[in-house]
Amino acid sequence: MHDKQVALVTGANKGIGLETARQLARRGMTALVGARAPERGEEAAQRLRAEGLDARFVRLDVTEPASIAEAARWIETNLGRLDVLVNNAGVLIGTTKPSETNLDELRSLFQVNVFGTIAVTQAMLPLLRRARPAARIVNVSSGTGSLTQSSDPRWEHARINVLAYPAAKAALNMATVQFAKELRETGIKVNAADPGYTATDMTRHHGQPVEEGARASVWLATLDEGGPTGGFFDAKGPVPW
Ligand SMILES: NC(=O)c1ccc[n+]([C@@H]2O[C@H](COP(=O)([O-])OP(=O)(O)OC[C@H]3O[C@@H](n4cnc5c(N)ncnc54)[C@H](OP(=O)(O)O)[C@@H]3O)[C@@H](O)[C@H]2O)c1
Repeated sequence: MHDKQVALVTGANKGIGLETARQLARRGMTALVGARAPERGEEAAQRLRAEGLDARFVRLDVTEPASIAEAARWIETNLGRLDVLVNNAGVLIGTTKPSETNLDELRSLFQVNVFGTIAVTQAMLPLLRRARPAARIVNVSSGTGSLTQSSDPRWEHARINVLAYPAAKAALNMATVQFAKELRETGIKVNAADPGYTATDMTRHHGQPVEEGARASVWLATLDEGGPTGGFFDAKGPVPW
């Protein structure tokens, strides 16, 4: 059995995901760099290895059931279990106002940000159940998925009035609550992370540095036994649902 803790981060070839994999590897974990494109994923894993970290590329397109099943098989064969799953892969498409939202774009976004996350979680659960003392699951959400914040005219991003991305993150938040409830007795903790507005390709490089954006995910991925489950947090603390 592999002696180090094993963390899988989806969408880890760049942005917040790559930084999350880096920070988890710096804490002594084996970081599995999940990526849909082999060249991009292998290159990212190599970058981390060049920094002296234990990182391995795992091909994983969260919208492809065969790729998810193959990734789970690979982890089982090579490492035997999973201690941390960070569901980070996400896309931002369909940024029009609700009345003009294209349903095909809405479906595509849900495929990645919601159904993909649920499918990966279900497939990895048998491996996560083998972690000792217990695994951590982090769903990378967004402050835009908060119903409370989105309906507050005083919220700093109150002018955002799009449907697809916030609706998907709100659905992901509910998935977080329901998985946490089911898994509570196992000790597996499931939480949603709000990275905050972070400079990546998704934001055309506006916002805080990725080191900050990865902070909530890394904290939730490394919670001790007394830590929360079924919550929504940014790097400073709880975010209202
Ligand atoms: N940046 C922000 O301000 C911000 C704020 C709140 C929440 N978030 C969330 O943080 C997470 C990371 O976003 P980011 O800002 O780091 O964006 P990013 O730089 O665009 O990275 C997104 C990652 O997701 C991957 N991905 C997309 N579709 C995928 C699929 N079908 N299967 C597997 N991987 C897929 C991308 O891979 P490719 O390179 O192959 O496209 C990429 O690695 C997302 O869930 C996002 O919604 C970001």
